[in-house]
Amino acid sequence: MENRTLGIIGGTGWLGRAIAEALLDNGFIKPGHLLISNRSGISTFEPGVKLLSDNQQLVDLSDIVVLSIRPEQFRKLQINARGKRVISLMAGVPAAAISAATGADEIVRAMPNAAVEIRQSYTPWYCVGNLFERDRNWVQRLFECVGSADEVPDEDCIDYLSAMSGTGPAFPAMLQMALTNQAVAAGIPPAIAQRAAQGVVVGGGQMLARRDPRQMIESLMAYRGVTAAALQSMADQDIESIVGRAVKAGAEVARRGM
Ligand SMILES: NC(=O)c1ccc[n+]([C@@H]2O[C@H](COP(=O)([O-])OP(=O)(O)OC[C@H]3O[C@@H](n4cnc5c(N)ncnc54)[C@H](OP(=O)(O)O)[C@@H]3O)[C@@H](O)[C@H]2O)c1
Repeated sequence: MENRTLGIIGGTGWLGRAIAEALLDNGFIKPGHLLISNRSGISTFEPGVKLLSDNQQLVDLSDIVVLSIRPEQFRKLQINARGKRVISLMAGVPAAAISAATGADEIVRAMPNAAVEIRQSYTPWYCVGNLFERDRNWVQRLFECVGSADEVPDEDCIDYLSAMSGTGPAFPAMLQMALTNQAVAAGIPPAIAQRAAQGVVVGGGQMLARRDPRQMIESLMAYRGVTAAALQSMADQDIESIVGRAVKAGAEVARRGM
């Protein structure tokens, strides 16, 4: 799909914009081959990137159309994308519904997360229809411009992972807030509590980029000290099933459709 035109409906939003910028910065696409649409007409892209207000015009001029609007905005979208390849980033909108609404029969559902902003998203994607091998490679390389990516074996993986990797910074943010609030409740000055909790989540997260989490836990448990007592308390309260139930609740929303 080299030198094909990519149109992003909603390309000025959180996800669409970050992806578009990464594709341009990586030289994956040239400005003249990138089209963006939105309703407001506001764009800060370089002049070579065309901003359109007419979504059908974007579709007609594009080889591949990315849907980067919210599910409720999709319900009002009226486009005919028959014969086009469509990549949807929307959570909770099944490929069959996209096909029925747009006429497209080659649909990729992909689920990046907010870390596209720092190009560290993990993006699972699934293809419905007959995408050639070279086109699959193109999709993979596209999402590698904003982090890492994998083709997954079925569409349900996308719905499950929407509630897991798709949540991006949500779980770490929740952990950081809980650590901060509990430290403050235990008498630690708020500014210190915030910096300490950030160190745990951000510093610890960066270490895990290079270390295996199981080995990390086993090594720390082996000290049989302070960290071991805290981890054991979490294990006794079945932290894994708390996490499992949380992801399941999100996945049910994605599977039910939005
Ligand atoms: N953000 C995340 O962390 C995340 C993670 C995984 C998946 N997703 C999925 O990604 C999609 C986009 O999310 P987002 O966070 O990027 O949303 P967002 O920041 O609200 O962006 C939506 C964009 O769509 C534009 N838009 C809305 N209706 C439009 C229409 N009819 N025609 C053309 N453009 C239109 C909006 O611009 P105007 O107002 O100017 O029209 C805006 O730029 C969602 O479906 C979401 O489920 C998001």
